[in-house]
Amino acid sequence: MIKFELCDKNNIEDTANLFYSMSPAGWVRASAPCFKKNLLHALATDARGTLVVANDADVPIQIGYVAAIEYPVFFWGKIILDHPLSFLSATLPYILKKLRGIMLLQPKTYSENSPPRFQWSRNNERTARVLFIGVLEKYRGQAVGTRLYNALFKELAKKGCEILEAHIDAGNDASLKLHAQAGFSMTKCAMGEFLAHHRVNHRE
Ligand SMILES: CC(C)(COP(=O)(O)OP(=O)(O)OC[C@H]1O[C@@H](n2cnc3c(N)ncnc32)[C@H](O)[C@@H]1OP(=O)(O)O)[C@@H](O)C(=O)NCCC(=O)NCCS
Repeated sequence: MIKFELCDKNNIEDTANLFYSMSPAGWVRASAPCFKKNLLHALATDARGTLVVANDADVPIQIGYVAAIEYPVFFWGKIILDHPLSFLSATLPYILKKLRGIMLLQPKTYSENSPPRFQWSRNNERTARVLFIGVLEKYRGQAVGTRLYNALFKELAKKGCEILEAHIDAGNDASLKLHAQAGFSMTKCAMGEFLAHHRVNHRE
């Protein structure tokens, strides 16, 4: 049976390991020594993080997790300050590839009828950004990802968060399908990425 729970200091170690094992990104491996600390920090303080994990209660192991943070700058800032060289060398190829300012240029409005207008400032609704969602290969295609999002929406609504955003690579079919299935609206951005957003319903 698959169960969903909030990540806290008791299961953060498993969550961090799951993250390393599934992330293809070089910067994750490079910043591994401080990543667990930052996840914990994001949960507790500055970054206002919310992490939901899925467990296979029969085994028992963690099989998936979704992490969202409201202040990514605190999360990345701490990693960069702690490990500037390894972070930079690991992320340089990524930064060069994506050197068109996607992190700063955010759509100002989420109107379904008008295309997003890119501005330097963020919209002023409380917005959390998905850091990563992943499900162990063996458990994919069984709605674990969709149920992780449903659990996350409930937690964010309790905290008064209004919007959840995610950036998705245009080539990641599984992720695009998952976000559509979980009720996100998708906007095509520059650089082969989609910006997905979901209004968190406070009455849920
Ligand atoms: C993306 C990911 C989290 C999806 O998790 P999941 O538990 O398999 O998702 P779900 O089972 O809830 O599937 C949601 C929808 O996507 C579809 N889907 C799942 N895997 C798919 C694939 N490889 N290709 C196309 N569609 C896929 C499902 O069929 C389902 O749609 P349906 O209900 O119409 O059938 C998982 O594939 C993964 O961990 N990928 C690696 C990490 C990653 O890319 N994360 C996202 C970027 S941050």
